[in-house]
Amino acid sequence: MCALSVATFNKLPLVSSTLESIMDSIQIPLATYVAISLFAVFFFVWLRRKPLPPGPMGWPIIGNMLMMDQLTHRGLAKLAEKYGGILHLKMGFSHTVAVSSPEMARQILQVQDHIFANRPATIAITYLTYNRVDMAFSDYTPFWRQMRKLSVMKLFSRKRAESWDSVRDEVDSMVKSTTINSGTPINLGELVFGLTHDIIYRAAFGSISHEDKEEFIRILQEYTKLFGAFNLADFIPWLGFIDPAGLNTRLPAARAALDRFIDKIIDEHLSKEKKNVNDNVESDMVDEMLVFYSEEGKVNEAEDLQNAIKLTRDNIKAIIMDVMFGGTETVASAIEWALTELMHTPEALKCVQQELADVVGLDRRVEESDFEKLTYFKCVVKETLRMHPPIPVSLHKSSEDTKVAGYHIPKGTRVMVNAFAINRDKNYWEDPNTFNPSRFLKDGAPDFRGSNYEFLPFGSGRRSCPGMQLGLYAMEMALVHLLHCFTWELPDGIKPSEIDMGDVYGLTAPKAIRLVAVPTPRLLCALY
Ligand code: HEM
Repeated sequence: MCALSVATFNKLPLVSSTLESIMDSIQIPLATYVAISLFAVFFFVWLRRKPLPPGPMGWPIIGNMLMMDQLTHRGLAKLAEKYGGILHLKMGFSHTVAVSSPEMARQILQVQDHIFANRPATIAITYLTYNRVDMAFSDYTPFWRQMRKLSVMKLFSRKRAESWDSVRDEVDSMVKSTTINSGTPINLGELVFGLTHDIIYRAAFGSISHEDKEEFIRILQEYTKLFGAFNLADFIPWLGFIDPAGLNTRLPAARAALDRFIDKIIDEHLSKEKKNVNDNVESDMVDEMLVFYSEEGKVNEAEDLQNAIKLTRDNIKAIIMDVMFGGTETVASAIEWALTELMHTPEALKCVQQELADVVGLDRRVEESDFEKLTYFKCVVKETLRMHPPIPVSLHKSSEDTKVAGYHIPKGTRVMVNAFAINRDKNYWEDPNTFNPSRFLKDGAPDFRGSNYEFLPFGSGRRSCPGMQLGLYAMEMALVHLLHCFTWELPDGIKPSEIDMGDVYGLTAPKAIRLVAVPTPRLLCALY
């Protein structure tokens, strides 16, 4: 027994090495088998995957985040040249699709408008809009529908004469200050940005003091910076603790400043309301909204607006910010671009001023009733909005999985509709990068009201601009007065071809370098 044990023990290494070699010979095919099976599974999944639109390859986890600086109207237009009218990018964990051709825009804004009517919102936007209780950033919900009804019927309606009055009054003051400064270089960019701020302040708050206005501008500027600040947590949520822009402290500070500012205005309006119950005093947008004010806001889909909707203070503040952001920079950048393109193209400037001299005459100022006869002027407005759509890229979000042009678009995809690229699509526009207002004189030229998808300055469909009428009125009023009342020269012997035509990308795409020009009164009558 003992001898056997010893003999067995002595043979054991031999047995074990034989076993190992048998195992090895089994392991090789096993590993190969596992690898082949894994490959087959992956290949099967790959084959069955739903094809996303084309786009540049991304990295694991971060996807295409290193291309973040290319997500501008110009960057996306360049990418579209390579990948086509619909392209896909993966930003961290979220899908982004950029749309840059009229046909793809029609798919998003008309054919599947109901699916793409949501808005994507960053952490900053959600916080600054009191959890999206405004109109511009709200998803497509019953709440949004009521907000939209409120704004179309009450706030931006042509029937709200006070907004239109504030345009005329502020344009008058601009003509006056320009006349006083005639003969000296004027920073036209600053002039028109000041004008649109004044128009929208008056329409929203009634009259407010100069100090209040300065403070509100500071609040708006911080909001603009926060809206545009890069936040890693928007793309990779678990990296929220990395906060180089200091958003965790700046966001509460900015919202608290707005609370202080607008709460005071709301309180003043409430006490004014009590005092003036029977007086017929001019109302502003805050007054219009206070009619629906209640501390516990509620929304239902009943037909009667008055009974269907109750606005809280947060709603009122968030809507005021929509109006401020929607109505100031958009109109101002459009006016500045129109003047810039005209100074850059002296033949067009000559044509539009000649039309004003012929139709209106040099012995009076322009009246609203002249507008419909100013055919070339209207073309200048359209051509400016084509080349420089004030909101160059509008943002939508898909509310369910869908297909566009045969490509899979997952639920929650952020869709960037690039109006800038669409308005310059060379398949639809001849010589698209040249400022040529006469192109709109042709029969059948596209219109910007949303049914010509090659020309989308105000968007189209459910989320198109509700302030279009007011915005156009302010743009046309200011521009026509600046062109009719003054002749304009570039300062310091600058030639038209030397004007800087660059833009900067944000919510809007204003001129990178402000336009400066010297006005001289042009009319035979007094200007004010
Ligand atoms: C030349 C002037 C203007 C232009 C070119 C313009 C353009 C636009 C565009 C492109 C959109 C987004 C459309 C989309 O998402 O598909 C938009 C939305 C909006 N605009 Fe305007 N806009 C102008 C003036 C105004 C004015 C004066 C106001 C208000 C006083 C205003 C308020 C808004 C609001 C609240 C939205 C969001 C609507 C929603 O999400 O339902 N806009 N605008």
